[in-house]
Amino acid sequence: MNPDLEWQRRYEAEDTPWDKGAAAPPLLAYLRRAPIMGRILVPGCGRGHDARALVAQPGVDVVGLDISPTAIQQARQLPSVPGNGSQIIFAAGDFFDLPASSAGAYDWLVEHTCFCAIDPAQRPAYARAAALALKPGGHIFAIFYLDPGYESGPPFRVSRDELSALFAPSFDLLEEWVPRESFPGREGRELVRILKKR
Ligand SMILES: C[S@@+](CC[C@H](N)C(=O)[O-])C[C@H]1O[C@@H](n2cnc3c(N)ncnc32)[C@H](O)[C@@H]1O
Repeated sequence: MNPDLEWQRRYEAEDTPWDKGAAAPPLLAYLRRAPIMGRILVPGCGRGHDARALVAQPGVDVVGLDISPTAIQQARQLPSVPGNGSQIIFAAGDFFDLPASSAGAYDWLVEHTCFCAIDPAQRPAYARAAALALKPGGHIFAIFYLDPGYESGPPFRVSRDELSALFAPSFDLLEEWVPRESFPGREGRELVRILKKR
Protein backbone atom coordinates (compact mmCIF):
# COMPACT_ATOMS: atom_id res chain seq x y z
CA MET A 1 0.00 0.00 0.00
CA ASN A 2 1.09 3.58 -0.65
CA PRO A 3 2.68 4.60 2.70
CA ASP A 4 0.66 7.84 2.83
CA LEU A 5 -2.60 5.88 2.54
CA GLU A 6 -1.33 3.44 5.15
CA TRP A 7 -0.96 6.28 7.71
CA GLN A 8 -4.50 7.38 6.93
CA ARG A 9 -5.79 3.80 7.29
CA ARG A 10 -4.07 3.49 10.69
CA TYR A 11 -5.74 6.67 11.99
CA GLU A 12 -9.15 5.62 10.62
CA ALA A 13 -8.76 2.25 12.35
CA GLU A 14 -7.47 3.96 15.55
CA ASP A 15 -4.46 1.65 15.27
CA THR A 16 -1.91 4.21 16.47
CA PRO A 17 0.34 2.65 19.13
CA TRP A 18 2.90 5.47 18.71
CA ASP A 19 0.36 7.97 20.09
CA LYS A 20 0.87 8.12 23.86
CA GLY A 21 -1.85 10.75 24.37
CA ALA A 22 0.70 13.32 25.56
CA ALA A 23 3.60 15.45 24.35
CA ALA A 24 7.05 13.86 24.18
CA PRO A 25 8.76 13.93 27.61
CA PRO A 26 12.10 15.19 26.17
CA LEU A 27 10.26 18.14 24.58
CA LEU A 28 8.43 18.96 27.82
CA ALA A 29 11.72 18.74 29.75
CA TYR A 30 13.38 21.15 27.30
CA LEU A 31 10.49 23.63 27.48
CA ARG A 32 10.91 23.75 31.27
CA ARG A 33 14.41 25.19 30.80
CA ALA A 34 14.23 27.11 27.49
CA PRO A 35 11.57 28.44 25.13
CA ILE A 36 11.01 27.43 21.50
CA MET A 37 9.87 30.71 20.03
CA GLY A 38 8.40 32.33 16.95
CA ARG A 39 6.79 30.44 14.10
CA ILE A 40 7.08 26.69 14.74
CA LEU A 41 6.43 23.79 12.33
CA VAL A 42 5.70 20.28 13.63
CA PRO A 43 5.83 17.85 10.66
CA GLY A 44 4.05 14.51 11.11
CA CYS A 45 2.23 15.95 14.11
CA GLY A 46 -0.38 13.18 14.31
CA ARG A 47 -3.06 14.17 16.83
CA GLY A 48 -0.99 17.20 17.79
CA HIS A 49 0.16 16.58 21.38
CA ASP A 50 3.60 18.15 20.81
CA ALA A 51 2.09 21.08 18.89
CA ARG A 52 -0.32 21.77 21.78
CA ALA A 53 2.57 21.75 24.30
CA LEU A 54 4.37 24.30 22.13
CA VAL A 55 1.37 26.62 21.78
CA ALA A 56 1.02 26.80 25.57
CA GLN A 57 4.05 29.14 25.46
CA PRO A 58 3.32 32.87 25.02
CA GLY A 59 3.67 34.62 21.68
CA VAL A 60 4.16 31.64 19.38
CA ASP A 61 2.54 30.60 16.12
CA VAL A 62 2.42 26.81 15.74
CA VAL A 63 1.62 24.82 12.60
CA GLY A 64 0.98 21.08 13.01
CA LEU A 65 1.24 19.30 9.65
CA ASP A 66 0.30 15.70 8.86
CA ILE A 67 -0.26 13.67 5.70
CA SER A 68 -3.32 12.02 7.27
CA PRO A 69 -6.50 14.14 7.08
CA THR A 70 -8.02 12.01 9.84
CA ALA A 71 -5.09 12.73 12.19
CA ILE A 72 -5.55 16.45 11.48
CA GLN A 73 -9.31 16.27 12.03
CA GLN A 74 -8.71 14.55 15.39
CA ALA A 75 -5.97 17.04 16.32
CA ARG A 76 -8.40 19.91 15.73
CA GLN A 77 -10.99 18.30 18.02
CA LEU A 78 -8.63 18.03 21.01
CA PRO A 79 -8.58 21.13 23.26
CA SER A 80 -5.63 23.53 23.09
CA VAL A 81 -4.76 26.11 25.73
CA PRO A 82 -2.78 28.75 23.82
CA GLY A 83 -0.42 30.97 25.76
CA ASN A 84 -0.88 34.72 25.69
CA GLY A 85 -0.88 35.90 22.05
CA SER A 86 -0.27 32.39 20.67
CA GLN A 87 -2.12 30.52 17.98
CA ILE A 88 -2.17 27.04 16.49
CA ILE A 89 -3.21 25.67 13.11
CA PHE A 90 -3.45 22.04 12.06
CA ALA A 91 -3.04 21.42 8.33
CA ALA A 92 -3.23 18.28 6.21
CA GLY A 93 -0.30 18.10 3.82
CA ASP A 94 2.90 16.42 2.72
CA PHE A 95 6.11 17.61 4.39
CA PHE A 96 7.96 16.65 1.19
CA ASP A 97 5.74 18.92 -0.90
CA LEU A 98 5.47 22.12 1.14
CA PRO A 99 3.66 25.09 -0.42
CA ALA A 100 5.80 27.97 -1.67
CA SER A 101 4.45 30.09 1.22
CA SER A 102 6.28 27.80 3.68
CA ALA A 103 9.71 28.54 2.23
CA GLY A 104 11.82 30.30 4.85
CA ALA A 105 8.71 30.85 6.97
CA TYR A 106 9.66 29.13 10.24
CA ASP A 107 11.93 29.94 13.19
CA TRP A 108 11.82 26.39 14.58
CA LEU A 109 10.97 22.90 13.40
CA VAL A 110 10.11 20.34 16.09
CA GLU A 111 10.72 16.73 15.13
CA HIS A 112 9.28 13.81 17.07
CA THR A 113 8.54 10.41 15.49
CA CYS A 114 8.11 11.69 11.92
CA PHE A 115 11.73 11.18 10.79
CA CYS A 116 11.82 7.63 12.20
CA ALA A 117 8.48 6.79 10.57
CA ILE A 118 9.36 7.65 6.97
CA ASP A 119 11.16 5.32 4.57
CA PRO A 120 14.92 5.79 5.25
CA ALA A 121 15.35 6.49 1.52
CA GLN A 122 13.40 9.73 2.13
CA ARG A 123 15.78 11.03 4.81
CA PRO A 124 17.76 13.31 2.47
CA ALA A 125 14.43 14.76 1.32
CA TYR A 126 13.47 15.29 4.99
CA ALA A 127 16.66 17.28 5.62
CA ARG A 128 16.05 19.33 2.44
CA ALA A 129 12.41 20.05 3.43
CA ALA A 130 13.55 21.18 6.90
CA ALA A 131 16.13 23.50 5.32
CA LEU A 132 13.50 24.85 2.93
CA ALA A 133 10.96 25.58 5.68
CA LEU A 134 13.34 27.33 8.10
CA LYS A 135 14.60 30.90 7.99
CA PRO A 136 18.39 31.38 7.90
CA GLY A 137 19.42 31.01 11.56
CA GLY A 138 16.30 28.92 12.28
CA HIS A 139 16.54 25.87 14.52
CA ILE A 140 15.48 22.23 14.64
CA PHE A 141 14.63 20.63 17.98
CA ALA A 142 14.65 16.92 17.12
CA ILE A 143 14.04 13.78 19.11
CA PHE A 144 15.60 11.05 16.98
CA TYR A 145 15.10 7.34 17.61
CA LEU A 146 18.59 5.83 17.72
CA ASP A 147 17.45 2.33 18.60
CA PRO A 148 13.80 1.27 18.51
CA GLY A 149 14.95 -2.18 19.68
CA TYR A 150 14.29 -4.09 16.50
CA GLU A 151 15.73 -4.15 13.01
CA SER A 152 12.79 -3.53 10.67
CA GLY A 153 10.52 -0.52 11.02
CA PRO A 154 8.80 1.83 11.21
CA PRO A 155 10.13 3.17 13.48
CA PHE A 156 13.48 2.91 11.70
CA ARG A 157 16.74 3.27 13.61
CA VAL A 158 19.31 5.95 12.78
CA SER A 159 22.94 6.47 13.81
CA ARG A 160 24.64 9.67 14.94
CA ASP A 161 26.94 9.46 11.90
CA GLU A 162 24.01 9.21 9.49
CA LEU A 163 22.27 12.17 11.16
CA SER A 164 25.44 14.25 10.95
CA ALA A 165 25.90 13.48 7.25
CA LEU A 166 22.23 14.15 6.40
CA PHE A 167 21.99 17.55 8.06
CA ALA A 168 25.57 18.81 7.51
CA PRO A 169 24.84 20.46 4.12
CA SER A 170 22.56 23.10 5.69
CA PHE A 171 22.80 22.82 9.48
CA ASP A 172 25.30 23.15 12.33
CA LEU A 173 24.87 20.90 15.36
CA LEU A 174 24.60 23.07 18.50
CA GLU A 175 23.83 20.50 21.20
CA GLU A 176 22.94 16.87 21.63
CA TRP A 177 21.99 14.64 24.56
CA VAL A 178 20.30 11.37 25.38
CA PRO A 179 17.17 12.45 27.22
CA ARG A 180 16.65 11.31 30.81
CA GLU A 181 12.88 11.55 30.43
CA SER A 182 11.25 9.40 27.73
CA PHE A 183 8.06 7.46 27.18
CA PRO A 184 8.27 3.98 28.80
CA GLY A 185 10.22 1.66 26.52
CA ARG A 186 12.14 4.48 24.82
CA GLU A 187 14.52 5.20 27.70
CA GLY A 188 18.13 5.49 26.49
CA ARG A 189 17.04 4.87 22.88
CA GLU A 190 16.45 8.49 21.85
CA LEU A 191 18.79 11.35 20.97
CA VAL A 192 17.89 15.03 21.13
CA ARG A 193 19.72 17.31 18.73
CA ILE A 194 19.44 21.05 18.31
CA LEU A 195 20.52 22.14 14.86
CA LYS A 196 20.88 25.62 13.44
CA LYS A 197 20.37 26.45 9.77
CA ARG A 198 23.24 28.39 8.27
C1 LIG B 1 4.69 7.49 14.00
S1 LIG B 1 3.54 8.72 13.61
C2 LIG B 1 3.91 9.96 14.84
C3 LIG B 1 2.83 11.00 15.00
C4 LIG B 1 3.09 12.00 16.13
N1 LIG B 1 4.36 12.69 15.94
C5 LIG B 1 3.03 11.32 17.47
O1 LIG B 1 4.09 11.17 18.11
O2 LIG B 1 1.93 10.89 17.86
C6 LIG B 1 4.21 9.43 12.12
C7 LIG B 1 3.33 10.53 11.57
O3 LIG B 1 3.95 11.09 10.41
C8 LIG B 1 2.93 11.34 9.47
N2 LIG B 1 3.58 11.43 8.15
C9 LIG B 1 4.20 10.43 7.47
N3 LIG B 1 4.69 10.90 6.31
C10 LIG B 1 4.40 12.22 6.27
C11 LIG B 1 4.63 13.26 5.32
N4 LIG B 1 5.28 13.01 4.16
N5 LIG B 1 4.19 14.51 5.60
C12 LIG B 1 3.53 14.77 6.76
N6 LIG B 1 3.26 13.83 7.68
C13 LIG B 1 3.69 12.57 7.44
C14 LIG B 1 1.96 10.18 9.64
O4 LIG B 1 0.69 10.39 9.11
C15 LIG B 1 1.98 10.02 11.15
O5 LIG B 1 1.00 10.81 11.77
